[in-house]
Amino acid sequence: MTPKKELRIGLIGTGLMGRTHSNGYKRIGDFFPELEYRPVLKAVCSRNEENLRKFADQWGYESVETDWRAIIARDDIDAVDICTPNDTHAEIAIAAAEAGKMILCEKPLARTLAEAQRMVEAVDKAGVQNTVWYNYRRVPAVTLAKQIIDSGKLGKIFHYRANFLQDWTINADLPQGGAALWRLDADAAGSGVTGDLLAHCIDTAMWLNGGITDVSAMTETFVKERVHQLTGKVQKVSIDDACIFHCHFENGSLGLFEATRYARGHKALYTLEINGENASIRWDLHDMNRLEYFDYADESIVRGWRSILVTDSDQPYMKRWWIPGTSIGYEHTFVHQVADFLKSLETGEPCAPTFQDALQTQKVCEAVLESAASKSWKDTGAKGI
Ligand SMILES: NC(=O)c1ccc[n+]([C@@H]2O[C@H](COP(=O)([O-])OP(=O)(O)OC[C@H]3O[C@@H](n4cnc5c(N)ncnc54)[C@H](O)[C@@H]3O)[C@@H](O)[C@H]2O)c1
Repeated sequence: MTPKKELRIGLIGTGLMGRTHSNGYKRIGDFFPELEYRPVLKAVCSRNEENLRKFADQWGYESVETDWRAIIARDDIDAVDICTPNDTHAEIAIAAAEAGKMILCEKPLARTLAEAQRMVEAVDKAGVQNTVWYNYRRVPAVTLAKQIIDSGKLGKIFHYRANFLQDWTINADLPQGGAALWRLDADAAGSGVTGDLLAHCIDTAMWLNGGITDVSAMTETFVKERVHQLTGKVQKVSIDDACIFHCHFENGSLGLFEATRYARGHKALYTLEINGENASIRWDLHDMNRLEYFDYADESIVRGWRSILVTDSDQPYMKRWWIPGTSIGYEHTFVHQVADFLKSLETGEPCAPTFQDALQTQKVCEAVLESAASKSWKDTGAKGI
């Protein structure tokens, strides 16, 4: 057997995403054995050394670093994987690009458009391979939706709508900031649900349905003050707890988006629906292996929504896994992204979404927040991705 080329990974951040990505690197060789490259878990970094060592032992990293700069300085690391809170993405990514490292960065690309632009300039200047982990594209049912839409089966598109609903911040006693709660602190997160949840919906929407040209939005912060975990003081909450926006797409269709962390009963209900002249598609993260499809060309007496269980080997990514009828889950979307990244190293093609693609999502997020603040329509300046 030909020896594999090594892709030596330096992973930064050992929280939720540190685990999903590590799982992706570990599974890849068993399920995508033909790939020329093989990830090597060279080093992992976070700031608490005791927890870090446990993480490294558990997942099989060869070494640990407590300062991300040490990861970037190492000659035995090819790719830096950024799994830290949003306020660190720009600094780490720019330093990594300047050191000539490939970069896999978590979403949203940055806190602000200005930060994201600097990151894109840095990877462009360095010419390093880059990707952003908008992983919902790689749910097989969502990838199948892309294939169906691209085949033209829906005809002219009229509507696109998406929701991302959670309920974990309703308790007004929940602190903001610091470990695990950085998402409630605007300094660390950049924004609330817009950058955290809607960014996913926008990435998928622009991938499936093209560019979003202009937006009209409203945001709300339901709990105005919370104790800050780091200072111990009651401080103003500056994130958007909920955001609703509508928009135009370049193809003439209308979009409607909503995200909140105040929808009691919903844990992570990401849903999307697209309505065309001939057919419609809808998808729901809580039933992620299913794609619903309505085709007006069906004979009228049996016409109705079809519920497609996306587990057959001719459906996206599924020949890698089990047998028809058996499901896969959230973690597989990260395995798929690792596979596509490794493949991109073989082909020399970009691995979408790239930093440049994620910049377009960032433009929409920024326009959404500006529109809500100014109570007016805003052009996004975003290109389709
Ligand atoms: N793709 C997705 O679906 C998805 C899901 C969740 C989170 N995310 C994104 O992933 C990123 C991380 O989120 P998470 O949920 O894993 O966060 P988390 O709070 O679970 O983990 C963050 C990790 O970063 C470490 N860290 C923080 N600052 C650091 C620093 N300066 N140097 C080294 N390590 C540092 C922490 O110690 C912790 O290990 C965020 O950008 C988030 O938006 C993406």
